[in-house]
Amino acid sequence: MTASPKTVPPSVPPALDQPVGTLSLRAIAMPADTNPYGDIFGGWLMAQMDLAGGTRARQLAGCRVATVAVTGFTFHKPVYVGDEVSCYTALTRIGRTSLTIDVQAWVRRHTSAAVEKVTEGLFVFVAVDLEGRPHPLDLKDVPLDLPASGA
Ligand SMILES: CC(C)(COP(=O)(O)OP(=O)(O)OC[C@H]1O[C@@H](n2cnc3c(N)ncnc32)[C@H](O)[C@@H]1OP(=O)(O)O)[C@@H](O)C(=O)NCCC(=O)NCCS
Repeated sequence: MTASPKTVPPSVPPALDQPVGTLSLRAIAMPADTNPYGDIFGGWLMAQMDLAGGTRARQLAGCRVATVAVTGFTFHKPVYVGDEVSCYTALTRIGRTSLTIDVQAWVRRHTSAAVEKVTEGLFVFVAVDLEGRPHPLDLKDVPLDLPASGA
């Protein structure tokens, strides 16, 4: 009897559904952050993401920054009290005075070790001087984390 050929084990697919970018903020969703239905209020989540993108933009720009626009904001899944929220930032575009940063919010559920993406959006920050006027960036050698999405 001839030995049956060995089957090739299925290759492990690349981890596509993982956070992209730099961890820029982590917070626990608290009861004070809920909407009238008991889930976490979307505005609280947007504020965390703005803070995450803003702190990353400030680090890159080396000066004060202001949020000028947010596009492509999507709430994929609800966030619940006790969830650990982690905001990841990825630089996608460097302009004359502006930085575009893709911000993703992921949660580790209070009840489970699994992580899942709940929200993402594209934030544009402008480097400003002390009077709040746009200020040219000098970031020639800074690489992008992700290609520009065109948004
Ligand atoms: C940010 C601010 C200083 C920019 O002033 P402005 O007169 O619009 O400046 P400009 O027209 O020169 O634009 C500056 C940059 O922002 C970009 N920008 C302006 N409006 C934009 C929009 N709606 N979407 C995307 N980018 C925008 C411009 O393309 C430009 O980028 P670049 O220099 O890289 O090419 C001004 O709009 C402001 O003070 N806004 C309020 C900011 C704020 O209060 N944010 C909330 C709290 S942080």
